[in-house]
Amino acid sequence: MKGEVFFNHEKLKIICEDVLSTDKIPKNSVDLIVTSPPYNVDIKYNSHNDKINYEKYLEFSHKWLSRCFEWLKDDGRLCLNILLDKNKDGQQSVGADFTTIAKKIGYKYHSTIIWNEGNISRRTAWGSWLSASAPYVIAPVELILILYKQDWKKKEKKESDITRQEFMDWTNGLWTFQGQSKKGAGGHPAPFPIELPRRCIKLFSFVGDVVLDPFMGSGSTLIAAANNNRKSIGIDVDKEYCAIAKKRLIAEANIFEKKLHEMKVEKEKPITRKRTDSNPTQKLLDVTVN
Ligand SMILES: C[S@@+](CC[C@H](N)C(=O)[O-])C[C@H]1O[C@@H](n2cnc3c(N)ncnc32)[C@H](O)[C@@H]1O
Repeated sequence: MKGEVFFNHEKLKIICEDVLSTDKIPKNSVDLIVTSPPYNVDIKYNSHNDKINYEKYLEFSHKWLSRCFEWLKDDGRLCLNILLDKNKDGQQSVGADFTTIAKKIGYKYHSTIIWNEGNISRRTAWGSWLSASAPYVIAPVELILILYKQDWKKKEKKESDITRQEFMDWTNGLWTFQGQSKKGAGGHPAPFPIELPRRCIKLFSFVGDVVLDPFMGSGSTLIAAANNNRKSIGIDVDKEYCAIAKKRLIAEANIFEKKLHEMKVEKEKPITRKRTDSNPTQKLLDVTVN
């Protein structure tokens, strides 16, 4: 599929294209990736088949994780929201398998955050009920794997906006908050709550950094980025989801209301400042992520 820049506004960009073929992200340009790929659990997406053989799913994961690795800066990080394990159509150790693939590509492992969604009431599969024959054990949690490209410690010290309380709470790797309804995310079939990227962005990136979500869906990561003064890029293969994301950004991040002076210009890049005369944020994004 030949992709397009679906939307380009000041410090954010939506690319409607397959993550495996897009050529719109330069290498070594991204500070933080926050994403939740398709889980291969038969969700009815518009353009993506979410029920493929597990080996093929891992091959697909290897491919897009490799692309993300190239797009990250040397001190760039990846927050990867993924299942702990899979209990339907054969048990699989999804989180462990993703970690193994990522390490083979060259990512370094930092830690794992457990996201306690608290959705145990939705549970339907018990295996053998009240029998040791073949019971199912299901943990009602998801993972956020924290990986990085080369250096965990940031080379430059830029502005952080996390509060003392947030830092103390979120560095405890057990996060508890509700999932996101489809309705509240423009009807997208599998959104995560904005709280998830918000925490990752404030904890793991500086103000003004470039945040990417290669499986943008309804745009939750871009909303969190816009509301916290980060530049952002979202990729999604489906045009309808790109439209949902744009609509949500207008409604939930007030992107047309934001003043240009709110944008933080990176002081240490003189070439960027030279090109920002007429429209500072637009030019900054062009230089940084085009
Ligand atoms: C789990 S959803 C992401 C939801 C998102 N975190 C949100 O909050 O709305 C996965 C998304 O990946 C997209 N997708 C699937 N395959 C893709 C591909 N090859 N390239 C780009 N996007 C893809 C789907 O269209 C879907 O919107």
